[in-house]
Amino acid sequence: MNKIKVEDKEFEIFLENDALNKRIRLLGIQINIDYEGKCPLFIGVLNGSFLFMADLIKEISLPCEVAFMRVASYEGTSSSGKVKELIGLPENIEGRDIIIVEDIVDTGLTLTHILKMIKEKNPASVKVSSLLLKPSALKYDIEELEYIGFEIPNEFVVGYGLDYNGLGRNLTDIYRATEA
Ligand code: XMP
Ligand code: MG
Repeated sequence: MNKIKVEDKEFEIFLENDALNKRIRLLGIQINIDYEGKCPLFIGVLNGSFLFMADLIKEISLPCEVAFMRVASYEGTSSSGKVKELIGLPENIEGRDIIIVEDIVDTGLTLTHILKMIKEKNPASVKVSSLLLKPSALKYDIEELEYIGFEIPNEFVVGYGLDYNGLGRNLTDIYRATEA
C-alpha cells in the first residue's frame, strides 16, 4: 500500500522494510568492526527504537548487552522542546562502552540530554546509533552521532516503531506525512 491513513493524517510510503534491513545490516557490520574485542552495552530509547534495536542487535556478532530506557513524550508532529527525566537508565555503566539506540534525531534536544546524563556515570565511551536523522532540524552539535541509518528531510514520519499520536508503530515500512 502506497498511501495510508493514521488517525486523521495521510502518509505515503518512504522507506520500505527491505531498504531498512539492508542499511541496518551495514550498520551492524560497522559496529562489529569498531567494537572488536569489546562488549558494548546497547541502550535503546523507548518507545520508538524497539524494532530498530531488535533488527540491529541481530546483526551484532560481538558479545553485547541490551537495555532500554525512556525519556520525554513527544506530542503531535512538532517537538514540545521539553525533556523530562530519564527512566530506567542502567546503574552500572561506569567503564562500559555504550551505544545509544534511537529511532530518530530531530532537533537533537532529547539526545543531548541523554548524553549528558550518561556521561555523568563515567562510561568508557558513548556513541549513538540513530535509524533516522533530520539534518536540517538539528540544533545541537552532537559528535557522538556515529551510526546513522538514513538522513531524511524535515518531514514527519511514522512506522517501524515511530508513531503518530501513539499509532503506527506496527507498520513494517516507514511512511511520511503527505502534508504538514
Ligand atoms: P528531538 O527534537 O529532541 O526529538 O531530537 C527527538 C524525538 O522526537 C520524536 N520525533 C518523531 N517521532 N516521527 C515520529 O514518530 C517524526 O518524524 C519525529 N521527529 C521527532 C522522536 O520520539 C524522537 O525520539
Ligand atoms: Mg524517540
